[in-house]
Amino acid sequence: MKYQKLLEQTYQEVQQIPQSGTVASYIPELAKVSSEHFAAHLCTVKGGSYSVGSYATKFSIQSIAKVFTISLAFEMLGDEVWQRVGVEPSGDPFNSLVQLEYENGIPRNPFINAGALVVADILLQLLDDPWEEFLFFIRKLAGNDRIAYNEKVVLSESQHGFKNRALVNLMKSFSNIRNDLDKVLDFYFHVCSIEMSCEELAKTFLIYARHGKCLLSDERVLAVRTCKRINAIMQTCGFYDEAGEFSFRVGLPGKSGVGGGIAACHPHKYSIAVWSPPLNPKGNSFKGMKFLELFTSKSELSIF
Ligand code: DON
Repeated sequence: MKYQKLLEQTYQEVQQIPQSGTVASYIPELAKVSSEHFAAHLCTVKGGSYSVGSYATKFSIQSIAKVFTISLAFEMLGDEVWQRVGVEPSGDPFNSLVQLEYENGIPRNPFINAGALVVADILLQLLDDPWEEFLFFIRKLAGNDRIAYNEKVVLSESQHGFKNRALVNLMKSFSNIRNDLDKVLDFYFHVCSIEMSCEELAKTFLIYARHGKCLLSDERVLAVRTCKRINAIMQTCGFYDEAGEFSFRVGLPGKSGVGGGIAACHPHKYSIAVWSPPLNPKGNSFKGMKFLELFTSKSELSIF
């Protein structure tokens, strides 16, 4: 497979599509990012590495980091996790409150904000210093100790995170949040503020394509069952009320973030990360989705 050529052709085609997305502005710090950025990076399980655009530029991975928090919580707690958060698609926007009340404060899945807040609460119960230990965990998955939080994004989100505050309060009323609400929110905002480049993100996602093994060291950093479960949830819930569309058009387990990033993998074959900040009305990268749809169609490398 001529991956580099395919990425370049896909990049040229996506450049021709008129931009119709808008950069997220509900977190003011994210609105400062240029809408012109575009990057993609692909890693194969055999060690190949291919890229286009500004693949080494770091961006806010936002909700993509929820893949790593649920991975850690599931590794530590096993199936007990699913007593507090489900594995069903919500069919609602990422920050929706509506299902929570009639489903007794149990979020549908770990990728909607409500679910990720419960996972943050679980990690606060399990870890002595979740801020440090989560960073250590993500650096281990990434094989890279330059991964860090962006405190400006944390502050910006904290000052505007009204719906997230509403979500933790509602879930506390159903006893599905056990820690101090401000601590849960602060940890969650830190998780969302993690910055990575497409290259770093694709390398990290390769773990999910290799069922838990690092490429360089061949060290097992996640259990096989963790990768299988998380890939399954990405496939069905990774894009909120656009999860069906992503599965239909792209055909890979993946996860988006409001920073404009998307990371996905093809188990046993490759991982890919794309970044284009303008978002479609469902909050997923407009050109990122187009790029992945074209790429998996041209290469015939979707999981279906
Ligand atoms: O909770 C929030 O609003 C953000 N920090 C994360 C949202 C996000 O990335 C949703 N994704 N596509």
